Amino acid sequence: MSVVISPFFHKASFTLSYVVHCQETLECAIIDPALDFDMYAGKLDNTFAEQLIDFVEAHSLKVKWIMETHAHADHVTAATYLKNKLGGKTACGSQVTSVQRTFKTLFNLPEFVDDGSQFDVLVNENDELVLGNSSFKVLETPGHTPDSVTYVINDKAFIGDTLFMPDSGTARCDFPDGSAAELYTSIQKIYALGDDTTLYMCHDYQPNQRDLAYCCTVAEQKCNNTHVFSGITAEDYAKIRENRDNSLKVPRLIYPALQLNIRAGQLPPPEASGQYFLKTPLTGVEHLALKN
Ligand SMILES: [Fe+2]
Repeated sequence: MSVVISPFFHKASFTLSYVVHCQETLECAIIDPALDFDMYAGKLDNTFAEQLIDFVEAHSLKVKWIMETHAHADHVTAATYLKNKLGGKTACGSQVTSVQRTFKTLFNLPEFVDDGSQFDVLVNENDELVLGNSSFKVLETPGHTPDSVTYVINDKAFIGDTLFMPDSGTARCDFPDGSAAELYTSIQKIYALGDDTTLYMCHDYQPNQRDLAYCCTVAEQKCNNTHVFSGITAEDYAKIRENRDNSLKVPRLIYPALQLNIRAGQLPPPEASGQYFLKTPLTGVEHLALKN
């Protein structure tokens, strides 16, 4: 019942996408696939997604699942692109509806349906997604976002944006309905998987130009994580996290990424000319007395 994990690094957003496949049946899941997006040109591109497709085809894999650990703010998901090319069902945490409600309001999208129906499957705590002779078990791990989930298969876990590699600490908690206290609780749940469980990160920012690293054990995190190490209290962690969040800039792609990611990577409707657009909500308007 062994699964093989193949990581793919999307350098532009420091994201790890994974292909997980069952050696016996060749069924596979693709986790957190990225689509390239040049914000300045407004250009979507499939260069990275095609690497995933090439791998799937070269190994004769059958795509069963295309899974999101959460609605990402730093890259556009390739979920729908890959589903159209390779088949499979898209899946994400059921609380994506909360993210959808937030951004439906922010972007003023009266026609947008915020019931999660853009995804084939919405998962909840303890749900199982069968993959060949194994299955992923779902843990709800909110804090970074309300819809964040971890997918556990055998002794491996895909933890999305909860922990990063130990030298990079944890994910930010200042997005809508994010919570450092909730992330602390979610991380304890991940630690309870057992010291030998291998955790697969969604990002690696390669601090101090170190080589790419994307997995480590629970034991290594408990010993070495710079934010959530053994013995730190929820209150002390929240202070560290909130101080750090106050110093962070808004992610470069948050507005374009969320408009596509709340749709599982489908485009918003085109305007009358046939052209597709993304919106940017402006701030600072009143401060500069520019309101008309
Ligand atoms: Fe994220």
